[in-house]
Formats: sequence, structure tokens, C-alpha cells
Amino acid sequence: MSAPAVTAAPWVRLHDVGLRLGSVQVLDGVNLTLQAGERVALIGANGSGKSSLLRVLHGLLPPTAGQVVRDTGLREAMLFQRPYLLRASAQHNVALGLWLRGMRWQQARQTALAALHRVELQSVAHRNARTLSGGQQQRLALARAWALRPDVLLLDEPTASLDPHAKREVEALMADFAQGHGQAGPQQPMTMVFASHNLGQVKRLASRVLYLERGRVLADRPVHDFFQGPLPEAAQLFLKGELS
Ligand SMILES: Nc1ncnc2c1ncn2[C@@H]1O[C@H](COP(=O)(O)OP(=O)(O)OP(=O)(O)O)[C@@H](O)[C@H]1O
Ligand SMILES: [Mg+2]
Repeated sequence: MSAPAVTAAPWVRLHDVGLRLGSVQVLDGVNLTLQAGERVALIGANGSGKSSLLRVLHGLLPPTAGQVVRDTGLREAMLFQRPYLLRASAQHNVALGLWLRGMRWQQARQTALAALHRVELQSVAHRNARTLSGGQQQRLALARAWALRPDVLLLDEPTASLDPHAKREVEALMADFAQGHGQAGPQQPMTMVFASHNLGQVKRLASRVLYLERGRVLADRPVHDFFQGPLPEAAQLFLKGELS
């Protein structure tokens, strides 16, 4: 995918951010500036801090050290590693998110239906969300996030546990979303940050890659440079392991 037209405005800056949860140092000394319009992949072993970093970026977890400075004018939405779906219809699950952000219920229901069309779930719009397959639930959660027309979309392993066909479908949707834009208008392409264990997906979708290890960002490169190397030894070893 070609590089997006990245605007100069940073969406978020992290200054020496640390996160300690109980006795675990989850994030440590993270310095990061993410520009609006970037597509950033977070990679690293289980427990390296990807989900935690996404939560800090989204403002769900306050850091225990350092500072997070964000552009509060941008609308954000997040897709969680294990999406929480209400015991209600697929359409209701999407509409509720819109209603909570101030849309009138009737319009929210219509917009929800359009979002379900977008991810090809219109035929199950009235089914209880909890009875959908794993792949359908993942697409439903994606529709729920996308329906908000976010300027920034954060996704935590959006295609984990999907079969190859569903994986390709969700990935195509992400690529499509990345071409679009949110509330801020067409001059500002959507910013996307996603955690992934799928390096092929990272190559296809990301413009920039962050490699995490024990809560530290050990490499931060444009996607092309990342896969061409040279990288710090730890990142190199990780790549070798993931590719073997
Ligand atoms: N609420 C919590 N309390 C204590 N430790 C936590 C908490 N949440 C996460 N951790 C720890 O923080 C570290 C990073 O977890 P995180 O979920 O961010 O990793 P991850 O990179 O997303 O892993 P995975 O690839 O398995 O999803 C882990 O050691 C985890 O056990
Ligand atoms: Mg995780």
C-alpha cells in the first residue's frame, strides 16, 4: 500500500512513559510521537506490552510515570483483543455505541445497519451478537468501531483467532478504512495503530513498526527499513523466530 499523505500534526506524544501495575513494570521509558495519518504496527512477544501501550495511547490507562499529550480534537475508537459484545442484536450493539456518543436512536439504528453492510453482516443484523461465530463477532466489533467515523482507530490483534478467509476479509477492511477518513475530513487520512503477531499483515498494512520487549520500544522504523534491517539484536532474533 502506498504511504499516506501524513500531516504534520501529532495525534499523541508520550514522554518517558512508564506503567506499573502491581509489581509488574508493564511499560518503561516509552518516548513516542505518533502523527495523524500514520499506520503503526506494534509487534513483540506475548506480554511485551502491546495491549497496555494501546490502552495508554487511547487514554484508558493513565501512565504511572511520564506524560501523555494528545490532540483531544480527534475522535478515537478501539477494537479490543477480546471484544465485549452485549447480549443483544448485532444492530443494537453498533447502534448503542452511536447513541452513547449523542446520536438519536432512530438514526443510530440506520447508521448501524449501514456499518453492518460495510462488513457484510447485514444478513445477521437481527441475530443475537453472542450467537455469531468468532469471525463474525470480530467483524461486528470492527463495524462498531468504524461506525463512529473515528479519526484514530486502535486495534488489538484484530485478526487473531480468525480462519484464513475471515483474516483476509478483516485485513481488507482495515486497508480500506485506512484509505478513508474520520470526522476531521478528507484532508486527514485515518490514523491506525494495531497490535499484530502476523508479520505479513504488518508488511501489508503498516507504514511504521514499533518492536516492544518487556515494556520498552526497542525499535521504531518505517516499515520498509524494519524488514530490511539492520535492527537491534533482540528485534532481529524476534523476527527470525516469528518467520521460522
Ligand atoms: N492489570 C494488570 N496487572 C498486572 N499486570 C498486568 C496487568 N495487565 C497486564 N499486565 C502485565 O503486563 C505485561 C504486558 O501485558 P500486555 O497484555 O500489554 O502484553 P501484550 O504484548 O499485549 O501480550 P499478548 O501478545 O499476549 O497480547 C504482562 O506481563 C502482563 O502480565
Ligand atoms: Mg495483547
